[in-house]
Amino acid sequence: MVAKVVMKLGGGLITDKSSFKVPKKGVIDSICKEISKIISNGHSVTLIHGAGSFGHLLAKEWSLAGGLDPEISEQQRDAVLRVRSDMLELCGYVTNSLSHHGIKCEVFPPSEWVMGTGSSFDGDLGIFEDVPKGTVPVSFGDVVRVGGEAEFGILSGDDLMARISLELPSVSHCIFLLGDVDGMMDLPPNVEGSKLIPIWSAGERIETTHNAEQDVTGGIELKAARASQISGGVDEVWFINGNHPERISQLIEEGTTIGTKILG
Ligand code: IPE
Repeated sequence: MVAKVVMKLGGGLITDKSSFKVPKKGVIDSICKEISKIISNGHSVTLIHGAGSFGHLLAKEWSLAGGLDPEISEQQRDAVLRVRSDMLELCGYVTNSLSHHGIKCEVFPPSEWVMGTGSSFDGDLGIFEDVPKGTVPVSFGDVVRVGGEAEFGILSGDDLMARISLELPSVSHCIFLLGDVDGMMDLPPNVEGSKLIPIWSAGERIETTHNAEQDVTGGIELKAARASQISGGVDEVWFINGNHPERISQLIEEGTTIGTKILG
């Protein structure tokens, strides 16, 4: 069976979240190598990535998620441009690595085609469907335009994942690649004895710690909510450890792997 895969590389996976603009090039490269394997096996991939320290730190410093604040509007507008340009830079690390592995890609920065934040944003998702076969469409969490006085806001890559997975025809796999954790855990991952939850249904309680210090979007809670929403329309919705990209092929070819399968 040919798989149609929509995949997100979390910002914490592909950047060092606490140091301003430090990409994890080795991790990006090993995932792009795996994507080239998936494409050469005849499957299709749409790629979304998060921001990590290329977005959250400045967005937090200038409160970009809350929209325009007249008292600091000048600094905010400057920060909006910087975050957008930093996100393009991070995306460049991803697309360079894809090219290096022989994969063609097309980048669709949300600042150019999205209006509004959250999963009901406006924008033509058809652009992801219109790329030639074998080409990987790439997009990412970004600062986008919003209506009214707020002027701008933050669109999370998780919201892109939800809309793309549910609205593009026949998506078979929706995969969230996480950093340093095998999937959803029953306790915060840094707590001793925390165990992987192999199958998770919406409504089952998890204990999480969400680092609101650095994170301007929702962390694992938003991801879990989006993922269970997606599982209403996509059969295989998974959280997988992005430091083990071979698990992606294993899931596609064998039907299961180490990770958390999300049910609605
Ligand atoms: C956030 O996107 C975008 C910005 C802060 C500009 P995400 O919510 O998808 O990023 P990560 O995965 O949490 O880093």
